[in-house]
Amino acid sequence: MTETKVSGAAPTLVVEGLKTHFFTEAGVVKSVDGVDLCVDRGEILGLVGESGSGKSVTGFSLLGLIDPPGRIVAGSVRLNGEELTTASEKRLRDLRGNRIAMIFQDPMMTLNPVLKIETQMVETLLAHARMSRADARAKARDALGRVGIPSPEERLDAYPHQFSGGMRQRVAIAIALLHSPDLIIADEPTTALDVTIQAQILAEVQTLCRETGTALIWITHDLAIISGLADRVAVMYAGRIVETGSIAEVVSGPRHPYTHGLIGSVPSRNQRGHRLTQIPGMTPSFLALPPGCAFAPRCPRASAACTAMPELAGEGHAVRCFHPMNQPQGVPA
Ligand SMILES: Nc1ncnc2c1ncn2[C@@H]1O[C@H](COP(=O)(O)OP(=O)(O)OP(=O)(O)O)[C@@H](O)[C@H]1O
Ligand code: SF4
Ligand SMILES: [Mg+2]
Repeated sequence: MTETKVSGAAPTLVVEGLKTHFFTEAGVVKSVDGVDLCVDRGEILGLVGESGSGKSVTGFSLLGLIDPPGRIVAGSVRLNGEELTTASEKRLRDLRGNRIAMIFQDPMMTLNPVLKIETQMVETLLAHARMSRADARAKARDALGRVGIPSPEERLDAYPHQFSGGMRQRVAIAIALLHSPDLIIADEPTTALDVTIQAQILAEVQTLCRETGTALIWITHDLAIISGLADRVAVMYAGRIVETGSIAEVVSGPRHPYTHGLIGSVPSRNQRGHRLTQIPGMTPSFLALPPGCAFAPRCPRASAACTAMPELAGEGHAVRCFHPMNQPQGVPA
């Protein structure tokens, strides 16, 4: 099903039935196996799940960055109505330079170690827009200031190694935001940083996305980090979305046993940085998934019914489970 939510304007990003599989010698790894997502202008969607659940492969699929032996085998990715799964490589490159940006866990994936920050930012600007070098420098300086870099004028003349890890990531984020892209995919960009700094950076990015109308997908394994800042969340397990809804709904009333386990003792919206409890059992191998619900071997609520595949069901707050928790009153679990 397509994710449902109430909104006015057409969403920036609509993903339907996306499947990205890797055809390896050991077998077909179905890393993304029928994912639906929808992100509005200025909205922040948290994509959450344990290691190996398919979050990064989802992000790379949206950007058209899947290399053999992997490929998108089904589904649709539409950015402002334009289908990307069938777009040419040239078109995808143009979009990645202008309309879609990616922020990686390692800022050095974005930054060039041998060039001053100014050169990297100004050249990026000049490559994409008609403006004088002085205007480009001013814009770069403002962008650094907006992500919380102190003395941005002087810092423009520094090299990446002269920044701390947190500041380097802020520079990478400033570069991603330079063109006010339509969509940013941030893949665990702050995981290596102190929890307080993570929350600070996310708060700054949230403000900027709201102002520019940029839609943001923030990938993380830590639901608590985004619990006060994302608008909605999609929880991923073994290549599928198992629960989605507003962040408040999902954090205060998780319905999938996996989400419940991810949250552990439920953090309040103000308790950013709350660590998650470990869910007993291992993330399953994609090459040996059980029939039906992939979470069954770890699930305290599993029954014989769970050998069939549950659908993602529900309006707004949707869950893929035969025996969901926190059922609305009057609905049998
Ligand atoms: N090139 C590839 N060839 C084969 N399998 C792959 C390839 N790339 C990813 N996978 C598999 O796809 C699955 C999902 O990987 P992905 O990197 O999306 O996980 P993730 O949720 O981002 O995890 P993490 O939190 O560790 O970053 C993993 O089982 C991984 O082994
Ligand atoms: S469908 Fe069954 S096994 Fe899967 S999460 Fe729900 S109760 Fe657990
Ligand atoms: Mg990843």
